[in-house]
Amino acid sequence: MRNFTHDLIERHVGLLLVLVILTISVGGLVEIVPLFFQKSTTEAVAGMKPYSALQLTGRDVYLREGCYGCHSQMIRPFRAETERYGHYSVAGESVYDHPFQWGSKRTGPDLARVGGRYSDSWHRDHLNNPRSVVPESNMPSYSWLAQAKLDPESAAPKLRAMKTLGVPYTEQDITDAGVELADKTELDALIAYLQVLGTAVKNKN
Ligand code: HEC
Repeated sequence: MRNFTHDLIERHVGLLLVLVILTISVGGLVEIVPLFFQKSTTEAVAGMKPYSALQLTGRDVYLREGCYGCHSQMIRPFRAETERYGHYSVAGESVYDHPFQWGSKRTGPDLARVGGRYSDSWHRDHLNNPRSVVPESNMPSYSWLAQAKLDPESAAPKLRAMKTLGVPYTEQDITDAGVELADKTELDALIAYLQVLGTAVKNKN
């Protein structure tokens, strides 16, 4: 053991590499593993409901269109953010989000609590042509969403997939899922999704 000195480690790159990897792995595991077992990170906040079939369909439109490229859904615990957007985001708000929408890339504002901030008709105008309501906006128009009819058959498999990931949908929810999509467009679904964002925590405060 007397020969196992810092000198030895510094002279042998291979050994240094092994020890660095070992140190980082142990440090990483100690930080990350407990999070899988803490209630505050694995359980939904009080009052959170899984997305309805229409909201979940809207969420898929959001992902398909790459809205996350410009919008995060994670309010950081800094005064500038909480004064603008509301209470900072907590992990329990994202337990039904697969994949979650955290991030800090913001060409546009954070959307974690945009639910209820605007009327449905504001969103309709904004998504159809952002410049019609915010003249300086550089957000793209999504005018085709209003023409894209939803297929009610597409709802049940989405809910079923979420259920396998732990979202507590009942068999009844899955059987009834299609009903909510009848005669609705992708625009209706996307707005239903935007309007529910952050409402669980907002209603509590
Ligand atoms: C190229 C970047 C970009 C993309 C992509 C983008 N947005 Fe935006 N978005 C912005 C900018 C910039 C603003 C701020 C100006 C405005 O309100 O139009 C904004 C504003 C918004 C707002 C209003 C937020 C608030 O608090 O005022 C909503 C809602 C929104 N976007 C939803 C969406 C949705 C849904 C999509 C995908 C269909 C999307 N955005 C895609 C850049 C983008």
